[in-house]
Amino acid sequence: PSQIGILACELYVPPLYVDQAELEAYDGVSQGKYTVGLGQLKMSICSDHEDICSLCLTALQRLLDETGVHPQHIGRLDVGTETILDKAKSIKSYLMQLFVEHGNSQVEGVDNLNACYGGTAALFNAIHWCESSFWDGRYAVVVMGDIAVYSKGNARPTGGAGACALLIGPNAPIVFESGCRSTHMEHVYDFYKPDLTSSYPYVDGQLSVQCFIQSLDLCYSSYCTKSQMNLDNSSATSSKEVNLSSFLGVCFHTPYSKLAQKSLARLYLNDLARQCSYIQSQEQLDKYKNIDLRACIADKNVEKDLLEWSRELFEQKTLPALHFSKNMGNMYTPSLYFSLFSSIASHSCDELYGRRFLLFSYGSGLASSMYSLVCRRVHETRFTLLSIQRSIQRAKQKLDQQRIRLPPASVDQLLEMREHSQHKGK
Ligand code: ACO
Repeated sequence: PSQIGILACELYVPPLYVDQAELEAYDGVSQGKYTVGLGQLKMSICSDHEDICSLCLTALQRLLDETGVHPQHIGRLDVGTETILDKAKSIKSYLMQLFVEHGNSQVEGVDNLNACYGGTAALFNAIHWCESSFWDGRYAVVVMGDIAVYSKGNARPTGGAGACALLIGPNAPIVFESGCRSTHMEHVYDFYKPDLTSSYPYVDGQLSVQCFIQSLDLCYSSYCTKSQMNLDNSSATSSKEVNLSSFLGVCFHTPYSKLAQKSLARLYLNDLARQCSYIQSQEQLDKYKNIDLRACIADKNVEKDLLEWSRELFEQKTLPALHFSKNMGNMYTPSLYFSLFSSIASHSCDELYGRRFLLFSYGSGLASSMYSLVCRRVHETRFTLLSIQRSIQRAKQKLDQQRIRLPPASVDQLLEMREHSQHKGK
């Protein structure tokens, strides 16, 4: 099979949210800390009527309904989540209900776990199955979702919730670029959940941000080398440098929007250090040509320069990706994919055809990868960019017009209720 990629998507937006400005007042922090400092406007929350199974079941059922794909035509289902209900039973097994009731129990795949990276791991598994000798000609589906909650304190406003389901197969309008992928993984305690009776992680917030940025540097450097080699091999013409200008959109795993802006700024610093040819400013090139990237990860002066210099690039390439994240918060595993779809929805199909997107996935602990996608005009299939955009628009409408605002005090109550009810048996 060729041109494997995303054929269709379904995004699930939980119906409840809390306003971040109200949360600032309620928490007694300085005005602007969450809305400007973190760049967050609203945070999705789930009541006791929802859990990770209901989120994933809804996303998957709607994907099947909207695309009209019969459950028997799915041969693989990979799930990514870190919202753990059971230490052995997978969320995938709950989702099998939607297949078995239609006489299909032949669906490979189980859950993938590594903090926010599980969705990407699930997606890679689905792609690899389609590319392998074990592919049986049917579609793959990837479902990812999380309810991200933190104990009371400075991490709580970076919670959120959401889920999405992706239909994967050949002749897709959004294709994974072959050979263009890099990875950095290592052992670190930046965010982890050792207390199996609690949904709350243990977090070293500053360490997690530094690990994120360092992984970004390492993935970008090796992504550029690999993808440039790929381009050199595939074209007879002279080699073309890979840099930020190669992409229509640049999407990141987004724990909070400000970190996505800092990430884009960081990639611009990488491009400065590589003296990339699209950069016009000699002053900027001179200032950072010999920068030691590893030594300046927490350097606020460098960060300030780069945020300012990359503002225009950020507004073009990353800001359009942040609509869902700003209004839903950190969704953990699906966060990167809500960013991608937000970006896809912000362009017309004609603007998208032939254009590339760069994606960076990060899961604490840690696992990270960078890869790219390209949009294409497809023929003789109902799975088009336009049908993907329509599905994203439905989710945006729900996000912008059909949610219920809860007062911050209810968030505490809901979370306390969850603390008492979770992991209490079957
Ligand atoms: N107006 C404008 N900006 C403000 C204000 C204000 N009134 N008050 C503070 N700020 C700024 C700060 O200057 C800071 O900016 P900077 O990041 O550019 O320095 C920002 O708001 C955040 O303020 P801090 O005091 O640094 O925030 P705090 O330490 O309380 O918490 C953190 C931030 C670490 C992100 C915390 O929310 C957390 O631990 N979250 C969970 C971990 C996380 O999301 N890590 C990311 C990668 S891993 C993952 O995805 C889970």
